[in-house]
Parts: sequence; C-alpha cells; structure tokens
Amino acid sequence: MRLIFLGPPGAGKGTQARELALEWGVPQIATGDMLRDAMAAGTPLGAEAKSYYDRGALVPDEVIVRLIRERLRAPDAGRGFILDGFPRTLPQAEALDRLLAELGQSLDRVVYFGVAESELVRRLTGRRVCRSCGRTFHVVSAPPARDGACDRCGGALYQRVDDGEDTVRNRLRVYESQTAPLLAFYEGRGLLARVAGDGPIDGVRADARKAAGGPR
Ligand code: AP5
Repeated sequence: MRLIFLGPPGAGKGTQARELALEWGVPQIATGDMLRDAMAAGTPLGAEAKSYYDRGALVPDEVIVRLIRERLRAPDAGRGFILDGFPRTLPQAEALDRLLAELGQSLDRVVYFGVAESELVRRLTGRRVCRSCGRTFHVVSAPPARDGACDRCGGALYQRVDDGEDTVRNRLRVYESQTAPLLAFYEGRGLLARVAGDGPIDGVRADARKAAGGPR
C-alpha cells in the first residue's frame, strides 16, 4: 500500500495517517514530524528548516526531497507507506515520481481530505500536542482530562509555534498557491480519491479506509 494523504493544514492528515499506518503495518512518513524532530535535536537540517517553518513557509524542495529520498530507501518503507505532508509542490511530486521509478515502485492512491477554512483555523489555533507521544488534543472539542497533560502517556502538552492565528492564515495561503495544484495533477492520473474531512474522526477514518482501497 503506497499512499499520499493530501489536504490543507489541519485537515486531519496526521490524525488519520497515524492510526491507519498502525492498522496496515506500514510507516507514516510525515515530513512535518521529521522537521520538528530535526529542530528539537538541533541538527543542521533543523537549523536550516526553522526560519521557514516558524513563519509557515515551505522548506525548499531540494531539502525535503533529500530527506524523503533517504527515508524511502529505509527497509520498513519497502512494505509500503503513507506519505503525510509530502509532496507539497509540483516539483516535489515530480521528484517523488522519479524516486519511485528508481525503486521500481508506484503510487496506489492519493487521498484528499477536504475541510472548510473556518474549521481549519478553529482546529489549528486550538490544537495542543503531546511532547512525548505526539497525540493531538483540542482545547474546546477534545480537551485532555487533566489540564496540560496527555491522557495516553501523561506527557506535557504544548502549542506548535506555527499554530498561532497569523501563521495559520499564512500556511493556508501557502497551501492554496503551492499545494492545491496537486489535486489536478493527481486527478489527471486517476489516482485522486476525495474524502469529506469535517465529520467525526472515526467516520472520516472509515471513509479514508474505503478511499484508500476501494475501486478507482
Ligand atoms: P506539517 O507538520 O506537515 O503541518 P500541516 O500540513 O500544516 O498539517 P498539520 O499537522 O497542521 O495538520 P493535519 O492535517 O496533520 O491535521 P491534524 O491531524 O494534526 O508541516 C509543518 C511545516 O513543516 C510546514 O508549514 C512547512 O514549513 C514544513 N514542511 C512540512 N512538510 C513540508 C514539505 N513537504 N515541503 C516543504 N515544507 C514542509 O489535525 C489538526 C487538529 O484537528 C488536531 O487538533 C486534531 O485533533 C483535530 N482533528 C483532526 N480531525 C478532526 C475531525 N475529524 N474533527 C474534529 N477535529 C479533528
């Protein structure tokens, strides 16, 4: 199973990819998580990414493609993968085609999660993330049982630096101009399946499961 989860910031790509990757026994490959890990570890990649990340701009294509090239060659990705947050530009999508061709692989499906902009802003500005296990909460619609602590592991919750309202609005503009054109790119190749991302999380998951495996 080789899938891309595509959609605007806050559409629920990470929420769904995390669970479905476990269910299907394939890695969730999330470029945003990889960049956050690099920034937390203070690596040269993290230092290079930070100035783009903090203002909600895209990290340069060549940096991201290098990261993905290495990750797709890891043994666990041979079983399949869910790409979450990559590709995000046409040059990234074209680079992915070349990489997969080198590996003798091809994409099975691109699942797009559609959500209204007002709901995206609500979700992102209220999101809190567990520093230990990565689980996400929402201050209004999915608050933790104990303020500031993760229900699953007790880790401290934090707000992502790019989840402030101004940065969220910038990320949405960047999505529209640089990532939304990928819908037509993958639709033209018969790979795109659309899922309404604004229902309850379990319902969206059931639709994503079907979209990932159902007839094209
Ligand atoms: P990244 O980390 O990829 O962020 P994003 O795409 O902006 O996506 P998010 O993680 O914000 O949203 P999501 O769709 O995963 O939603 P989630 O499931 O968390 O990228 C961050 C930055 O890294 C970029 O701005 C860029 O700088 C850089 N970057 C990363 N990849 C790059 C690339 N390929 N090229 C260049 N730069 C790159 O859900 C959001 C919230 O909603 C949560 O609180 C969740 O609990 C809640 N929620 C989810 N589903 C539902 C639902 N159905 N109903 C109600 N609430 C829900």
